[in-house]
Amino acid sequence: MSDHNRSEEVLRLERLRKSYNVGKPTEVEVLHSIDLALKRSDFASLVGASGSGKSTLLNLVGLLDCPTAGEIHILGEATRDLPDARRTQLRADTIGFVFQFHHLIQAFTALENVLMPLMVRQGAPNEHQRKFALGLLEQVGLSGKEHRKPDQLSGGQQQRVAVARALINKPALLLADEPTGNLDSKSAAEVFALFREFNQQFGCAVLLVTHDQQLSEQCDRIITLADGHLESDLNIYSQSINSSSNYS
Ligand SMILES: Nc1ncnc2c1ncn2[C@@H]1O[C@H](COP(=O)(O)OP(=O)(O)O)[C@@H](O)[C@H]1O
Ligand SMILES: [Mg+2]
Repeated sequence: MSDHNRSEEVLRLERLRKSYNVGKPTEVEVLHSIDLALKRSDFASLVGASGSGKSTLLNLVGLLDCPTAGEIHILGEATRDLPDARRTQLRADTIGFVFQFHHLIQAFTALENVLMPLMVRQGAPNEHQRKFALGLLEQVGLSGKEHRKPDQLSGGQQQRVAVARALINKPALLLADEPTGNLDSKSAAEVFALFREFNQQFGCAVLLVTHDQQLSEQCDRIITLADGHLESDLNIYSQSINSSSNYS
């Protein structure tokens, strides 16, 4: 995938708002007019206090939830008015997810778990795709463990299966919500290194929510949310802080 234009825009958020409990007395807006763009080459962390809206933002970007207002463009495609079937397809084709808890299917082997998103998309994998899945498992350090079930793997190994699974469809955008939150620091560093590798190898943009300052500071870009506002957007290459909401 190295032939992709690394300056290609994979994500653009325009005046994105999210309220919960709309129409009820408890209605509350938790994201306030967020503008943000990510390119394929971006390797960004999303940080902010607990409750600042990080998971809400990731769920919107991942097309798992709908904004109350504003627009989300994925690879240039506006998503607000898409029919469900197209949303689902766009999600499967372009977005990989890693969550804090890996949600592996216990009855399936590591290899079967990795192949799941592909099977959801197209049915049985072909030989080339099986080889790609095995290659991903090798790359995350799980050669020889392809046929183990999750309960025969350590926590760090399970999370590495989840990382391989997130990449099986060669997503343009990898979203990770505290993926190292329940890992020891060595496993966390390994998972982080994999994100870095895939960012470079596949040209997949990475947006990583983490509480781990050591990890966030190793990203090229640090996006900070505070109370549902984009507080700052620090790019280490340009050494510029865009604290306005119109970064591009
Ligand atoms: N499903 C929900 N219903 C109502 N409020 C929610 C819901 N999910 C999150 N919130 C609220 O939205 C705010 C942002 O939450 P969240 O996105 O989970 O923040 P973070 O991931 O940064 O900790 C918090 O005040 C939280 O209580
Ligand atoms: Mg969260």
